[in-house]
Amino acid sequence: EKIAVLFGGDSAEREVSLKSGEAVVAGLQQQGYQVLGIDTQGFALADLHALKIDRVFIALHGRGGEDGCLQGALEYMQIPYTGSGVLGSALSMDKVRSKQLFAAAGVATASFQVLNREDYQGADFTAMLAELGGKVMVKPAKEGSSIGMSIANDAGQLMAAVELALQYDQQVLIEAWLSGAEYTVAILGEQALPAIRMETPNEFYDYQAKYQSQSTVYHCPCGLPEEQEQSLQAIALQAFRTTGAKGWGRVDVMQDGSGNWQVLEVNTVPGMTETSLVPKAARQAGLEFAELTERILQLSTR
Ligand code: DAL
Ligand code: MG
Repeated sequence: EKIAVLFGGDSAEREVSLKSGEAVVAGLQQQGYQVLGIDTQGFALADLHALKIDRVFIALHGRGGEDGCLQGALEYMQIPYTGSGVLGSALSMDKVRSKQLFAAAGVATASFQVLNREDYQGADFTAMLAELGGKVMVKPAKEGSSIGMSIANDAGQLMAAVELALQYDQQVLIEAWLSGAEYTVAILGEQALPAIRMETPNEFYDYQAKYQSQSTVYHCPCGLPEEQEQSLQAIALQAFRTTGAKGWGRVDVMQDGSGNWQVLEVNTVPGMTETSLVPKAARQAGLEFAELTERILQLSTR
């Protein structure tokens, strides 16, 4: 079987994806697979047939690769691929639709408002902020790696935060601030792996804390009593199923001021660099990086 690992691409997370792709190629090769690494920037997907590719490992983050577009193209070409399908990918990528689904399914998530580009003029930022408790996190609806995200404490900051997020998307999510700790739960098949707690001196777990900082601390085991970790894993799995995600992924969850779990989002192509979160959780569960790449491949469609 000939495997193509697709990475890079044109999204705002290109740099992260280049690293994920490189690591996945090495992992699969180590497991004995015949692997072709392909940067999809400028690549014509039709060439996958010409290259006699049997299966695709998707290591693309963000727009185009993680949002259902590539998944749809591969379905059409009848090439099996790793991870979530069209619907699960599209819904997980969209934080607004995800949260609407979470709310409907009884998955706890922070209260929020949505602002569309066309409603920006005339938006009452003061009222919005007051309704959400005076401090908010502003996010583009469909981005990753904290790109375009910022915190707002007053109406002026909220306006600036919305303007920034609108540079990345037509729709912006304004979410009540969560003051508790941030955790993440990797999902492999039907199973939640050990949770990780992230600790950063930054105001939140931003791009710098994720990829450039030496001072971010990752706790795995996460330090929660067993019962609490199990409830965290259960809510993560519930969120994963709610957006229709499949195969593998990672669910980000925070605690609010009262210590209750609040789901942030589901990532259907989480970072796969050697230092990324899913590989850390897998290692804690006894699965080395290369074995993890093989397991994800085995969980792919068809
Ligand atoms: N969006 C990044 C790659 C992650 O979730 O790990
Ligand atoms: Mg994400």
